[in-house]
Amino acid sequence: MNGKLLLILLVIIASVQGCAGTAPHLQLVPQEGTHPFPFFDSPTPVWRYNQQIPGPTIKAKEGSILVVDLFNQLNEPTSVHWHGLRIDNAMDGVPGVTQDPIQPGERFSYRLRLQEAGTFWYHPHFNSGEQMERGLKGVLIVEERDKLPWSQDLVVLLDDWLFQRDGTIYPHFNTHPDLMHDGRWGNAITINGQVKPEISVSPGERIRLRLINGANARIFSPTFEGLPAKVIAVDGRPVSTAFPLTRFILSPGNRIDLDVTIPADAAGKTFYLEDRFTRDTLVLGKIIVNDATPVTTPEFDPPLAPGFIPARLFNDVEVAKTWDLNAVRGGKFGIGWAMNRRLWPEADKADFKIGRPIKIEFKNSSSRLHPMHIHGAFFRVLAVNGAPAVESFTRDTVLVGPRETIVIGLVPEHEGVWMAHCHIQAHAESGMMTTIKVE
Ligand code: C2O
Ligand code: CU
Repeated sequence: MNGKLLLILLVIIASVQGCAGTAPHLQLVPQEGTHPFPFFDSPTPVWRYNQQIPGPTIKAKEGSILVVDLFNQLNEPTSVHWHGLRIDNAMDGVPGVTQDPIQPGERFSYRLRLQEAGTFWYHPHFNSGEQMERGLKGVLIVEERDKLPWSQDLVVLLDDWLFQRDGTIYPHFNTHPDLMHDGRWGNAITINGQVKPEISVSPGERIRLRLINGANARIFSPTFEGLPAKVIAVDGRPVSTAFPLTRFILSPGNRIDLDVTIPADAAGKTFYLEDRFTRDTLVLGKIIVNDATPVTTPEFDPPLAPGFIPARLFNDVEVAKTWDLNAVRGGKFGIGWAMNRRLWPEADKADFKIGRPIKIEFKNSSSRLHPMHIHGAFFRVLAVNGAPAVESFTRDTVLVGPRETIVIGLVPEHEGVWMAHCHIQAHAESGMMTTIKVE
């Protein structure tokens, strides 16, 4: 039996067992390999989970326990972080904070109690600027207890790659240019490892698209030209009220779930998924509508989370922590991205009490972008540059733009030491990381 088949079988067994309430089991093996990109004659050397780019899409049920055995076949240590999941702190995958690095040839078993349904993803938290860029990442879908009748439920993992002419990945990471700017932006974009993939649909179909920004640094603002798409979840959690996808900023780490109905009269049409973040509009992928007779569009309401961490919890709360974001000289690369002028691991850390609402202020004193991410929690954006700006959803990652100040509200619910860091990998690795200790 080949590896892929075995994996598919394991996933099937996993989901079957998930229903029975026992722990689904999966093995994740990071390893060197290759991946074909259409620009080059020969496949590009990459690092992969389970011999595929991206890694396997792991599916398990809300409320179940998922066990993932990592077997490190790389030539360097690694770890896996489950981005967005609220889990036991010991399973969070941060070397030096929640576990030891997993050495080459070693194994580590992650036991994940899946508290809420939604779109999550996984990636290394060790030498991650390089390990993620070489291809190590994948999507984790926690399925709702009751399945809704979308005709297709599709993963759209956005990523970019910095290739050299010879088809290899540019082998220098956390370079001076990366650090002086917004990290490593690639010269090729992929969705699920493919260039401008096509999704085929019938007129009338109602599909769910899960967009994940898995890039090291590139920011996307995805739009569908001519196709009404509604955002129904952000960073894994349902929104309070669905809203149209117009100018959503999808930073590294962010996810959005879209509810898209293909118009019944759209037979033969092509819709483009485009990125509008930079001045050039980039085509990311296509939805191609076939000529079949329209299918009946299923009617149902997607899940909503109106009362989840309501903004009023923070009405009389003072800012408990301000983190000033700026560059300093020093650190292991000569330039360090700092939080309150301190570089990880000499960070300015926070200590919060479980269950008590707190406010955090991110004050970006630089002219660069910092998508700030907090592990093991969801937070609500409350104010931008001093003006109230309550979003109708919660997040785990928020982009703090040049000279911008953002106040977020958070209720720590899980004990442990949780990372707070910039999700631009070069910024994080040069020092822009700290921890929040919850007791
Ligand atoms: Cu995707 Cu520490 O994060
Ligand atoms: Cu940053």
